[in-house]
Parts: sequence; structure tokens; C-alpha cells
Amino acid sequence: EKAATAQKIVSTAELSDGIHEFVVHSPVIAESAKAGQFVRVLPRPDGELIPLTLADWDAEAGTICLVVQGVGTSSLEINQMEVGEAFAGIAGPLGRPSDVHEYPTGSTVVFTAGGLGLPPVFPIMREHLRVGNHVTLIAGFRSGDLMFWVGDDERVGRLKAEYGDQLEIVYATNDGSVGYHGFVTGPLEEMLEANKRGEGRTIAEVVTIGPPLMMRAVSDLTKPYGVPCVASLNSIMVDATGMCGACMVPVVVDGKLVRKHACIDGPEIDSHLIDWDKFLPRFRLFKTQEQRSRVAHGL
Ligand code: FES
Repeated sequence: EKAATAQKIVSTAELSDGIHEFVVHSPVIAESAKAGQFVRVLPRPDGELIPLTLADWDAEAGTICLVVQGVGTSSLEINQMEVGEAFAGIAGPLGRPSDVHEYPTGSTVVFTAGGLGLPPVFPIMREHLRVGNHVTLIAGFRSGDLMFWVGDDERVGRLKAEYGDQLEIVYATNDGSVGYHGFVTGPLEEMLEANKRGEGRTIAEVVTIGPPLMMRAVSDLTKPYGVPCVASLNSIMVDATGMCGACMVPVVVDGKLVRKHACIDGPEIDSHLIDWDKFLPRFRLFKTQEQRSRVAHGL
């Protein structure tokens, strides 16, 4: 942890219902942040720490971008904060950075992002583009009116303008109002099938971030095709200290079940090693929360 001082909010925006973006002055973190990492935010001195993925940063301006969904007390508290106010503390960057390396020409790295999964995939996507990889983003939302960051002058739009054909974007909506009608798994399956016929760009790797059920679906889909899949488990963390146990992931290594902590060993975990049958039921315990979160995730 390289910084834990009060940091001021530079700008805010409501991205869609209950989802807010904050640009915060945090030069030390902005300078050392790597794709895939997160921070721990203390909204007020007497509040709770919450982990938030670094959705973006600008080392020159000394700012970081956080996207917050108002579901728990702390996140609702953050969402009421305004420009000029300061968080009591931000610690980070934390977590293992994404493993980004160059893939051969003719391949692509596919990102499947469900709703609120888009902010955490953004820096990882950008890093792959920076090293020269082709990237396919499949971004899923419940409906077109819940989409964000897609306009020409917004983050994903600007990335597209910068990288042109190196970045392909497919939108999927559950109600079919924009793009593909259905879940993110639909366009992904089409790509996997095309690969099987020897057509299209070879999928080198899939990165999935979103609600646990969506990540499982993407993981199950990729497995029989032998395509590596990484799930980023930011959304299941509670305190991100390695102490609360909330982010425990059952993983099978060499036939043995071991427990990993998303906040220590992750947030990225090889999705094909996760024992999803043991992992998923936990989320049913938080049904109300999950339902609210699903609405916000657009699922
Ligand atoms: Fe609490 Fe990882 S989030 S132990």
C-alpha cells in the first residue's frame, strides 16, 4: 500500500441508475496503478472500508477514476458525496495486476463485461491494446438506456477512436434495444464456433467481469473449446484485507480443492479451476442484494 491520505473529488457523473463515476485527486496511486488493480476507500472517518476497482487513472493529472454502485451503506454514502469533498482515505493500488502479454497476429483477446463489469475491464483492455493485441469487447446491458461510456467523447468511445480496427466492440442487450439481442455468451459462442471452423480471429484468452452467474456461463462456455478464461472477482470482495473470508474462492489445483482469496490471490482467477458448484450457492444467501445488484448490472 503506497498511499492512504484524504483525497478530493474532482468530478462526478451518474452513469446510469444508481451507478456513479468519481474522478478523485490521488497522484501517488495514479502514478503506480496497473491494469487489474483496485483500491480500498474509506468514505468518512467513521465509515467502512470498501474495495473499488481502478476504472481509469491519469498519471499526468494525478487523478484516478472509481465507479460505484449504490447497494451497501458505504457505497450509498459515497454516491452522495460531491465535488470538492474528500474521501477520508484511499489505500492502494492493491491486488495482483493483470497478466498482459503480446499474442500472435491474427488472434484476439475477448472481454465479456456485464453492466458494471465494464469499468473494471476498461484498463485491462487498454493495456492489451497498448502492447499491440487485438481486443474484442462484448459488453452486455439489460437495456440500451442503461449503457454508459459508449459515446464518442466517453471512455470506451475515445479508446475506439484511438485504436480503430484494433478494438472491436459488440454490444448485447437483454431486450434487444441495442446490438445483439441476448446475453454476452451469444456473440462469444458465435466466435468460438467460427474458430472451430478455422474462421475469424483466434481467441487467445477470454476475460470475464460481471455478476457471478454470467462469469460462470462464460467460463463453462469456453472450457470445452480449450480457450483460457480469467474471471476477475472484484465484486465479491467485502473488506479486501484477507481477514473477512467473504472473497474465498474454491479452486481445484492438481485434483485438490484449495481456497483462494480474491483480494489476496486475485482479483483475477483462472475460471476453469473454480469449483462453481461450491462457489455460486453463496450468492443466493444475499438474494435481495443480488437482485438489486442485478438490476444495476443490467441483468
Ligand atoms: Fe475479505 Fe478478501 S474480501 S478476505
